[in-house]
Amino acid sequence: MRYVNIMKYLYLGSSNLKASVVGMGAWAIGGGASWGTHVDDGLAIRTINQALDVGINLFDTAPGYGWGHSEQLLGRAIEGRRDRFLIATKCGLWWDDQRGSFFADFEGRPLYRSLRPDTIAIEVERSLKNLKTDYIDLYQVHWPAIEPEKTPIPETMQALTKLVEAGKVRALGVCNVSADELRQYLDAGPIVTNQFRYSMLFREPEQEILPLCEQRELSTLTYMSLEQGLLTGKVTMDRVFEEGDFRANAAWNPWYSLSNRKRVIDLLKGWQPLCEKLNCNLPQLVLAWTLAQEGVTHVLAGARRPEQIEQTAAAADLPLDAETLKRMDQDLATLASSGGDVHA
Ligand SMILES: NC(=O)c1ccc[n+]([C@@H]2O[C@H](COP(=O)([O-])OP(=O)(O)OC[C@H]3O[C@@H](n4cnc5c(N)ncnc54)[C@H](OP(=O)(O)O)[C@@H]3O)[C@@H](O)[C@H]2O)c1
Repeated sequence: MRYVNIMKYLYLGSSNLKASVVGMGAWAIGGGASWGTHVDDGLAIRTINQALDVGINLFDTAPGYGWGHSEQLLGRAIEGRRDRFLIATKCGLWWDDQRGSFFADFEGRPLYRSLRPDTIAIEVERSLKNLKTDYIDLYQVHWPAIEPEKTPIPETMQALTKLVEAGKVRALGVCNVSADELRQYLDAGPIVTNQFRYSMLFREPEQEILPLCEQRELSTLTYMSLEQGLLTGKVTMDRVFEEGDFRANAAWNPWYSLSNRKRVIDLLKGWQPLCEKLNCNLPQLVLAWTLAQEGVTHVLAGARRPEQIEQTAAAADLPLDAETLKRMDQDLATLASSGGDVHA
């Protein structure tokens, strides 16, 4: 079993914030119906402490992760060690009232997308309180605004820039934007990161987003790079997810359908010899592949248990040789061309 020896750190875009290339995603520890099993708070805090112990300083959260619970857990875990944490949280998903544009019914509540200055002003204060801190390192737009209440990007950016000027926020980022939206955000203010879904099974960002980030020297925070556990090899054919867990819903992530699951399990089985050669396990191999892709600077690894983050952190310290990358790319190309209802 491989453990991290040396964590690597890279600046977030043009900011002076140096973040571990593997960050801990704090969605699952926030609990909530979409992740099935609830995580005990003590276990969640031990997981955060384990992340710190293996050199992780980047923690990604959001108000919506457990309706504030994920931020509150981080706030409890910080305990006088604020300088060891680089906290990335978000604004833009709103559920206090009907301001913004209806987005979805999520875990029994109507959720709105709002990037209005007045809702952002409320959100930032709540996040600071949850996190028990007086500044947020990286404040990210969670989802771009949509019609009917599509706040113009310059208006949102003006509100966010004021937070930087007030010292409440150190740097700004976006998530889930199209290439065109990203250009508009960049025109409107100092964005240093872009966060988006990217995995070896979800390659769309390679078309436009990753090259644009590289060209504009933005750091990239990839999410779902383990496809919510599927790429760790632990999701067997007979694993049944609880109702409400989005992994139970193949419409949400088609890779979880039984036929696709089998294709992925077979792919991962074929990589066991690579793991043996490199003395690593599958989550490490998969995240190391992700980090090796053009334009990827940082990956977010979700974790609910200390040993999970201890393992995934070691991907930072696992350079993949050209032969291994070639073999993995060939297998992924075969998977993509082998039909089924999803293409890699
Ligand atoms: N901006 C956005 O819109 C957005 C959207 C999605 C995610 N994110 C961020 O990205 C982060 C990462 O994404 P994600 O958490 O959805 O998915 P992920 O990182 O692809 O998968 C995380 C899950 O993989 C399993 N896992 C992790 N390490 C493992 C290990 N070593 N061995 C076995 N299983 C392991 C765990 O599953 P179990 O829980 O079953 O143990 C864990 O909850 C999130 O936490 C969040 O911070 C952002």
